[in-house]
Amino acid sequence: IGSVLSGGGSPPSPNNATSWANMYDGFQNAALTTPLGIPLLYGADAVHGHNNVVGATIFPHNIGLGATRNPTLVQNIGRATAEEVAGTGVDWNFAPCLCVARNDRWGRTYESYGEKPELPTSMTPYITGLQGASLGGAASVLATARHYLGDGGTTNGTDQGNTQLSEAELRAIHLPPFQAAVQRGAGSVMISFSSWNGTKVHGSQYLITNVLKNELGFSGFVISDWDGINQIDGASGISATDVRTAVNAGIDMVMVPNDWQAFIGLLRTEVQAGRVVMSRIDDANRRILTKKFELGLFERPLTDRTFTGTVGSAAHRTLARSAVAQSQVVLKNSGNVLPLARDNNRIFVAGKSADNIGNQSGGWTISWQGGSGNPTPGTSILQGIRNTVGSSTTVTFNQNGSGIDSSYRVAVAVVGETPYAEGQGDRPGAMGLDSADLNTINTLRASGVPVVVLLVSGRPLDIAGQLPNWNALVASWLPGTEGQGVADVLFGVTQPAGKLPVTWMSSASQQPINDGDGKTPLFPYGFGLTYTTQPPPTDTTAPTAPGTPTAASVTSSSVNLSWAASTDNVGVTGYDVVRVQNGTETAQAATTTNSAALTGLTAGTSYTFAVYAKDAAGNRSARSGTVAVTTSSGQGTATCRVRYAVNDWGSGFTGNVTISNTGTSAINGWTLRFAFPGGQQIGQGWEGTWSQSGNQVTAVNASWNGTISAGASVTTGFNGSYSGSNPPPTAFTVNNNPCTIA
Ligand code: GLC
Repeated sequence: IGSVLSGGGSPPSPNNATSWANMYDGFQNAALTTPLGIPLLYGADAVHGHNNVVGATIFPHNIGLGATRNPTLVQNIGRATAEEVAGTGVDWNFAPCLCVARNDRWGRTYESYGEKPELPTSMTPYITGLQGASLGGAASVLATARHYLGDGGTTNGTDQGNTQLSEAELRAIHLPPFQAAVQRGAGSVMISFSSWNGTKVHGSQYLITNVLKNELGFSGFVISDWDGINQIDGASGISATDVRTAVNAGIDMVMVPNDWQAFIGLLRTEVQAGRVVMSRIDDANRRILTKKFELGLFERPLTDRTFTGTVGSAAHRTLARSAVAQSQVVLKNSGNVLPLARDNNRIFVAGKSADNIGNQSGGWTISWQGGSGNPTPGTSILQGIRNTVGSSTTVTFNQNGSGIDSSYRVAVAVVGETPYAEGQGDRPGAMGLDSADLNTINTLRASGVPVVVLLVSGRPLDIAGQLPNWNALVASWLPGTEGQGVADVLFGVTQPAGKLPVTWMSSASQQPINDGDGKTPLFPYGFGLTYTTQPPPTDTTAPTAPGTPTAASVTSSSVNLSWAASTDNVGVTGYDVVRVQNGTETAQAATTTNSAALTGLTAGTSYTFAVYAKDAAGNRSARSGTVAVTTSSGQGTATCRVRYAVNDWGSGFTGNVTISNTGTSAINGWTLRFAFPGGQQIGQGWEGTWSQSGNQVTAVNASWNGTISAGASVTTGFNGSYSGSNPPPTAFTVNNNPCTIA
C-alpha cells in the first residue's frame, strides 16, 4: 500500500491533534519497516480548515470565500490549513475543489468558489498556500485539484451525475481552473465521479491522459475518488474491467477504501495478461514517487510537531474571522437598518443557526456530513453579537422567537440549512426555508420590530416570496467556527464588501441559473451592498422623564393614561408604560405617543402606573411620577349627584365638588368630568388628580377615595382662574354616567 487516507469523519480516538500525529507516525513507521522503506502519503479532506480534527480552525466553505473575491486571503487560508494539517502528520490534502457549480441544487455547491470559471481559477493561490512555492518546505502539504472534470455541471445538479455538454462548453466552463492549478504545480488531481455525455470520467483516457496529462502538461499523479473506479463498468463492486479501464485511462493511484486486496490481485492479473502494460505502471509509480521525494518524505517522514500547536491557534482563528467578515454579502438593507447600533440597543436574536457551531460550519465538519450542535470549539453568531455590543445594550435569544415584543429595536433571525455533504445535500425539489425558520421569522415580524435575516446556507435559497417582509438580508454562507466575523459586519466593525459568487434565483424553477443566461435573477452574480451610512452615533444622553401620567375613562377593565411629553437631545421615539407594584415593574404598553389606553385590567383593583421615555439609541429616561388608578367594580353603572360650589375672589376661585353615590352599589374608582362654559382654567387640584384639555376638565380619584359606598359621598376640589365671568358647569359625569346636580 502506497498511501492511506482518512475519509470524512475518520479520526483516531481521541480526536485531537496529537492523537492524529501519533496515528500518522504509527502508519509511517510501519511503512518504513517494509523492504523498500518507501514512506506513504496520508490524505485527508481538509476542505475548510483541518475539519476532521476537533479543535481545528474551521474556515468558511469555498462559496463564502468566493464571495470575498480575495485570492490573497485564500492563499493565506491555504497556508494556515497546511500548518494545521502538517501539525497532525497528514501530508496530503484533498483540496481545493475547483468545481464550477452551475446548478445550485447540487449538494456540493458550497464546495465551489463560484459559478463562473474565472472565480475558481482566481482562487488557485490556495494551492501555493498549501504546498508552498515548491513542495518540501516547512508544513508543505500536497494539494489536490478536484474533481476533474465537470463535477459541477451535471444535469439537474445531480451529484455524481451526467454532465451533458459539448467539448467546447466543457473546456470553456470547467477546464480553466485546472489549467491554473497545473500551472501552479498542484501535486495531484482527483477524478470526478460524474460522467461526461454518458462516459464515466474515471474511465476517460481522453480527458485524463490526452487533455490533463498531455495537453495541460500535468506531471503530478492522478487519484481516483472513493471507490470511483467501481462505477466504470456500470455494475456495482470492483471488476477487472473497472481496474483495467481506470489505470489505462491514466489514473495513477486508486482510492480503494475497502477492497484493496482485490484491487491488487485484479491489477496484477491485468498486467500479467498484458492488458495493462508495465510502462503504464512505471509511469504511475514514477509520478507518485516524484511527489513523495519532492515533499521530503524520504528525509522527514514523521510529523513535524513544531506545527501541532497551530491547530486551532488564535492567529488562525483571527484569519478565519476576517475571512468570515469578508464573505458576508448584504443583499437587502431597507431603511439602513444595518449596521446595528452597538450601544443603547435592544436586540432580539432567534433562529436555529444563531447559536449552533455545527450549522454555521456545514458539512465536512468533524464528521463527513457534519451535524447540528457544537461539535468543536468556536464562536457562534449569537456569541459574536454578544461580544460586540456594549453594556447598555440588551441581547435576548430565543430560538423560535417567542418572547419578542415591541420594546426591541431590531430582531435578527439566523436561519437556513442544516449540514449535509455530497449527494445527501442534493435538492431536486423545493429550495426554500423550512417551516421552523418561516415560523420563527413570522413570530418576529408579528411584533412589528424590524427583522434582519441571516441565511446560513451552502447555496442561494428560494426566498423571493418572503423577502419583501424582511428589512434586511445577509448571505452568511457557511462561516465555520469564527461566527464573530458575521457580527463584525452586522455592527459595521467591518464594512461589508462581499459579492455574490453565484446568481441568486428568483425561484427554484429557474435552476440552473447562471450569469449571462438571459434569466432574471432575484440578485445577479456579483451583487452585494455596502453600508451607505456609518454606524449611528452613540447617543448616551437619556431623555428627561415624562410628566406624571393622568388617568381618564376608568372602567372596570380599562383606563386611558396621558402624560406630558419628554424632551431629549436626539429625539424621543417612544414610551414604556409600566405597572409598579411592591417595588417591581411590569410592562404594560410601548407607545410612540404620550398616551396609552390600557385594557384587560381587573375590575375593582387598585393600580399604580408610571412611564419611561425612550430615544432612537434606546436610552431610557428616569421613571415618571406614578398615578394611582382603581378600576370600577363593573357592578352596574354609577348613579350620582354632584354639588359644585365656588369661593370666588375676583379673577381666582376655588371649586369644591361633592360626589354622592345615589346608587345601591359601591363605586370603585371614579372619573369626574365636566366642561367649563367660560374660559376658566384649573390650577392645582386636591383629593384627586385634576387635568384640563381645552375646556374639558377631568378629575380622577386618589388612591384613598376611589371607593364611594352606596349613599356615601366624597369631596374633591381645585384652584382655578378666569377672566370676565365664572359661570358654573352645566353637566357632570362620573365614569361617563351623567349625574344630577345638587
Ligand atoms: C468523497 C468525495 C471526495 C473525497 C473522498 C475522500 O466521496 O467525493 O471529495 O475526497 O470521498 O473522503
